[in-house]
Amino acid sequence: MQTLILAGGKGTRLRPLTLHTPKPIVPIVNRPFIHYQLDLLRPLNADGAMGVLLSLSYQPRRIEEALAHEELGGIRLRSVVERQPLGTAGAMRNVRSQVTGTLLVLNGDILTDIDLRPVLERHRARRAAATLVLVNVEDTRAYGVVELDDEGRIRGFYEKPESGVTSAKSINAGIYLLEPDVLDLIPEGREYSFEYDLFPRLLTSGLPLYGEVTDAYWLDIGTPERYRQANADVLSGRLRRYPPESSPPLTPDGSAVDAGATLKSGVSVTRSVIGANCYLENDVQVMDSVVLAGARIAEGARVSSSIIGRGAHVGSNSMLRNVVLGDKSVVTDFSRLG
Ligand code: GTP
Repeated sequence: MQTLILAGGKGTRLRPLTLHTPKPIVPIVNRPFIHYQLDLLRPLNADGAMGVLLSLSYQPRRIEEALAHEELGGIRLRSVVERQPLGTAGAMRNVRSQVTGTLLVLNGDILTDIDLRPVLERHRARRAAATLVLVNVEDTRAYGVVELDDEGRIRGFYEKPESGVTSAKSINAGIYLLEPDVLDLIPEGREYSFEYDLFPRLLTSGLPLYGEVTDAYWLDIGTPERYRQANADVLSGRLRRYPPESSPPLTPDGSAVDAGATLKSGVSVTRSVIGANCYLENDVQVMDSVVLAGARIAEGARVSSSIIGRGAHVGSNSMLRNVVLGDKSVVTDFSRLG
């Protein structure tokens, strides 16, 4: 069993956080995001033989450097760097020569606690060429919507449909099981999208394509709102089967504070994440926020429902609500933002 994690996107919707930190390593509760995806793979890696390919294009060295010193718990990780972005399906074609059997593909920006073992079992029992994991959502407009028949075979696929195009509520969760012959349908060496190019082609190919609806926790972390949500959900324990050994130690106020952060007297931190080397001066209040490594928040400042970028400086007595500050931003004393 091999896995490909698609981790080459620019992450434009998550700017400014992704300007200097590519999405696969933005921290969720002080842990590079990709570790949550590796957690997902561990139950499938009972024989310890799983190889994971990481396809990179945007700021690949930053990702490689960040993971070089990490303990990956018995998973062999190898990166494949694209000379130019190949798109979601082009990235799959690019590793074709290394794929010998069923390939599990994960979008590199989904946080989920799905148990993939039964999905793999059904994929094999049905002799599917491709199985897409699906989740049901109320508002499908931002996603790829999949229509299934009674046997779970995929009958239709609509990428970001206008309302009224389909009544289906199941969306593409960005988790695929693919047999190698599916990869052979992708043209080599050029940009090719899974959603817009490969999937329509698969539908007319006659190959057996199945959808597997899950009710597991699932979130695409790709916007600042959802990034903050992801942190909040990990803090509040919403991810089931989240490995307890990697659960962060929390304060009584439901926060994760890195051991290397300094909190001066009278500081209150509620349902928030404080990264390494942050410095919170006297009487600072932080609520429902993510404060990334090295940020400094000066005396009496109040920060709520916000994301504070790496090394940012929030001036004394300022009030920030619902804001996203890029790395190294400076907010002067007594500012009001949000
Ligand atoms: P936005 O720019 O905000 O849309 O984010 P994104 O660049 O991550 O694009 P999108 O969310 O559509 O990508 C889905 C997944 O595919 C993400 O995990 C991306 O890292 C990955 N991805 C997107 N384009 C490429 C590419 O050209 N090459 C590789 N290897 N991965 C890609």
